[in-house]
Amino acid sequence: MQDSPSLVDQCTAVLEMNDRGNYTQPAHGLYPHQWLWDSCFVAIGLRHIDVERAQTELTSLIRGQWHNGMLPNIIFRDDAAYRTDRNIWRSWLNPYAPNGVATTGITQPPMLAEAIVQVGKKLALPERRSWYRMMWPALVSYHQWLYTERDPHKEGLMLQIHPWETGLDNTPPWMAEMHEHQLPVWITIIEKTHLDRVINLFRRDTRSVPIDERFSTVEALTLFDIQRRLRRKGYDINKILDHGLFAIEDLAFNSIFIRANQHLRDIAKTIREDLPEGLDASIKKTETAFEQLYDPYSGQYYSRDFITHRLLKIPTVATLLPLYAGSISKETAAKLVKMLENDQAFGTAYPVPSVTANSFWFHPRLYWQGPSWVNMNWLIIDGLERYGYKDHAAALRESTLEMVEKSGCSEYFDPHTGQAAGAMNFSWTAALALDLFKTQK
Ligand code: GLC
Repeated sequence: MQDSPSLVDQCTAVLEMNDRGNYTQPAHGLYPHQWLWDSCFVAIGLRHIDVERAQTELTSLIRGQWHNGMLPNIIFRDDAAYRTDRNIWRSWLNPYAPNGVATTGITQPPMLAEAIVQVGKKLALPERRSWYRMMWPALVSYHQWLYTERDPHKEGLMLQIHPWETGLDNTPPWMAEMHEHQLPVWITIIEKTHLDRVINLFRRDTRSVPIDERFSTVEALTLFDIQRRLRRKGYDINKILDHGLFAIEDLAFNSIFIRANQHLRDIAKTIREDLPEGLDASIKKTETAFEQLYDPYSGQYYSRDFITHRLLKIPTVATLLPLYAGSISKETAAKLVKMLENDQAFGTAYPVPSVTANSFWFHPRLYWQGPSWVNMNWLIIDGLERYGYKDHAAALRESTLEMVEKSGCSEYFDPHTGQAAGAMNFSWTAALALDLFKTQK
């Protein structure tokens, strides 16, 4: 690809526009707070502009860390205008919540280790060691919290309790389960009486983004209902599981976790730290347990219901994330790459669609049910490179950059036309496009 100052300038401008001092908001208006995995992706791009600022993006996440090690998916802005957002969650109900900072009571995919390592690559070894040492306690306690709270049966896989924890909010396997098992009676009545059309008028997200690019109102209400049930249990995992609330071992989350554990080990080696007792064995168990998500008949991995262990057999972009995990065999990786090549599956003109193109769920502009997302592409490119698929990785890098050059830093893109969809001036699109541009060989 030719030198492209306009892409770099564009991405830099978006990151500057969304800079809130010590963190970057994902997008003005729609996403005004600090999100966990967004900040990780942002740091990966920011390291090319200003390493110190990239470090701040990550250290600022620690102010939201709970005393039990959890990193929340959102740290709320301390501003009178956002009192409602803070009150919906009331994180202070849980004794482990941090003092003086309002957060949610759930997490998001563990991208922190990757972000720490990517930022570390920009530092000379002595500084890198200090950087790793600075982040080590928070990172280790986060991974320990995941093993303690999210793997209660010690099976090796992490469970999630809300679709928002996967980062792929309306991804079909979760939505199918939600429609099947989680709709409360009052929401069914709203649906039957078409009252949702009236409620549509009061939605905040659809002030920034067309309604056909977002959740349906019934889905949005159900998500808030699940959140309210979690709040009623004070975000206490034992109470949540005792009451049989939603629990899924999500494929995207667990793929990212496997890679994060590899990074954790490398960081430990670099700073000559031992992993806390038991953690090393737990990490090994996760890689083995991950294979239980594999279905030999379709040659794919899936998310799994935590209680029944039933695989949720709907292919989505998460299907390709085991490439990023890096723990799967070369033979299985080859099967996933075939799906990426297939234009009925993930091989659209502007890949990678968040749902296979031939799926019943596929809508080219509907959030995580069709559009291509730059963060998913970044993870898949990284996985392809490590499995030796250099040409596939280069082609995906190029089409991703072309999509952003053509349509700007939008939140997501129509996978057939590459047109912008969702929020405009979206931070992780800017940061990761910048990174893909700067790291091309
Ligand atoms: C949406 C995305 C989620 C992201 C958040 C902020 O909810 O689905 O992954 O973290 O926006 O950008």
